Amino acid sequence: MCGIVGYVGSDKTLEVLVGGLRRLEYRGYDSAGVAVIDGEGRLATAKKAGKLVKLTDELLAHPINDGGTGIGHTRWATHGGPTDRNAHPHLGDDGRLALIHNGIIENFSALKDELLAEGYTFESETDTEVAAVLLGREYRATGDLRSAFLGVVGQLEGAFTLLAVHQDEPGLVVGARRNSPLVIGLGDGENFLGSDVAAFVEHTRRAMAIGQDQMVAITADAVEVTDFDGEPVETEEFDVAWDAAAGDKGGWPSFMAKEVTEQPDAVANTIRGRIVDGVVDVPELTAFGDEALSAIRRVIIIGCGTAAYAGLVAKYAIENWAGVPVEVELSHEFRYRDPVISDDTLIVSISQSGETMDTLMAVKYAREAGARTLSICNTQGATIPRESDAAIYTHAGPEVAVASTKAFVAQITALYLFGLHLARVRGSLSADQIGEQLAELEAIPAKLSSVLGVGESIRTLAHWMSDTRSVLFLGRHVGYPVAMEGALKLKELAYIHAEGFAAGELKHGPIALIEPGQPVFVIVPSPRHSALLHAKVVSNIQEIRARGARVIAIAEEGDVAVLPFADEVIRIPLAAPLFEPILAVVPLQLFAMELSTAKGLDVDQPRNLAKSVTVE
Ligand code: F6R
Repeated sequence: MCGIVGYVGSDKTLEVLVGGLRRLEYRGYDSAGVAVIDGEGRLATAKKAGKLVKLTDELLAHPINDGGTGIGHTRWATHGGPTDRNAHPHLGDDGRLALIHNGIIENFSALKDELLAEGYTFESETDTEVAAVLLGREYRATGDLRSAFLGVVGQLEGAFTLLAVHQDEPGLVVGARRNSPLVIGLGDGENFLGSDVAAFVEHTRRAMAIGQDQMVAITADAVEVTDFDGEPVETEEFDVAWDAAAGDKGGWPSFMAKEVTEQPDAVANTIRGRIVDGVVDVPELTAFGDEALSAIRRVIIIGCGTAAYAGLVAKYAIENWAGVPVEVELSHEFRYRDPVISDDTLIVSISQSGETMDTLMAVKYAREAGARTLSICNTQGATIPRESDAAIYTHAGPEVAVASTKAFVAQITALYLFGLHLARVRGSLSADQIGEQLAELEAIPAKLSSVLGVGESIRTLAHWMSDTRSVLFLGRHVGYPVAMEGALKLKELAYIHAEGFAAGELKHGPIALIEPGQPVFVIVPSPRHSALLHAKVVSNIQEIRARGARVIAIAEEGDVAVLPFADEVIRIPLAAPLFEPILAVVPLQLFAMELSTAKGLDVDQPRNLAKSVTVE
């Protein structure tokens, strides 16, 4: 939530800032703004409510001087609505300094009262402006941006990434972070700061992550990182695995359309290097040691939204393969309910961004309670893997569309590798049994490519259903989390009421929702593996059909038993039952995307949402 970019280098600052904001816009798109110090040491700002294009239009209509130092921000509103005034940067020291912020300053009200009593005035309703005015006060006392900044961060409570510039110190950007992301990009005669590596990947692939409660000062030639007491700290450089092109839309109509089609690669890349000579070996898990993995008595998977649904899918597989009880919980519920945790509990967090505040707080809580922690994450340099004992990175590449697609299938893949690795070290499956599952997993990318071929029929369906006001999704077993994921995609992309249910639960209440014409997607399990489960779902279909529902079945190729009962059948390739969700979700993703398009909505940036939710 909120994207941040900072730059010191040559006189192309505006280009760097706007390019960075374009790549970070998925983090929030309520408003955008920049502040630049020009060659004469003058600070100029521009900011506009609305998407980034409003800011770029404003810069065309009212250009500001370029310079070698600047900061830029794209906002997801928390305190104060999405207006020009509330857009960042905010100013302090009578307009001589500019500051941008991601997060929430929890004690802003008390600080604001203190500043108001001293005669300071405010232009916006934001918590951020309090930090800017405070920085101005500290700067007047110290005359030094670094010390003034340290003085400010010491007074703030809550979560924040802050960047600031002062016109009396051109060539310097200072930044700090607590529970909110900030990464350094290392250039040649130029340096960058960003909420994530996407901010600067088109300029450099050398990066450094900044730890919790640390401050950074960048100039064109130097980077200094200290703790909040001003003591230098060690930082580690890493190479960004994504190239800039991976984050571009290419010729696709939307990032989501591109990312849906990248799912075969997302799965294949996540598997790569983790199956060696037919044996599963996830090197990242050696951080725990086989003995500790064997001793695990309970796995708790935590995540939010789509990530939590990936966890729910994996629960079925991990319990089946490794024989360990697995619970799946929403991070924000887990964190605030005093869960029973011991050192034989493994907490597996799932987060595409690696920055979701609810999940980060839950991981910290679990660690403090003595649990071991494993992160499944897609973003290098992110906070959650850094706060965990070990991390398995999904190699889905940058996911820019707000609605998660390729990260979901990559998360399931990583969790399956984890489950099979656990089964190997615990001896709960034989080598042959593990080999069979691995072969199924390795066959998934090709099957994903083939299921993408349903796009055209889904488009027709979506156009036909563009006035639909409510859609239900039903599934059983691993089809149940897929049903919930299908409903979530539709809610966030097409803004229509959608619910996912366990098909067996229907008769306990939700069947009352069925009226003539109600569209219901049903994920039908394979009859080849469980005739019983298949028969139960077919009965559920009959129950809703009898009440007038219009049924769209997602069923495997060759399942003819379902034909008489469905109005539409969308086919997915044959796969072992535990692998079906990775295929069955694709038509649902496509349906949500096509319905959003048919309604003329913004597929990549749905209203009120942001990709990386860095507030609780
Ligand atoms: C839905 C979606 C969200 C995220 C959730 C967690 O399409 O993208 O539900 O899955 O906000 O985000 P991460 O995985 O970054 O922790």
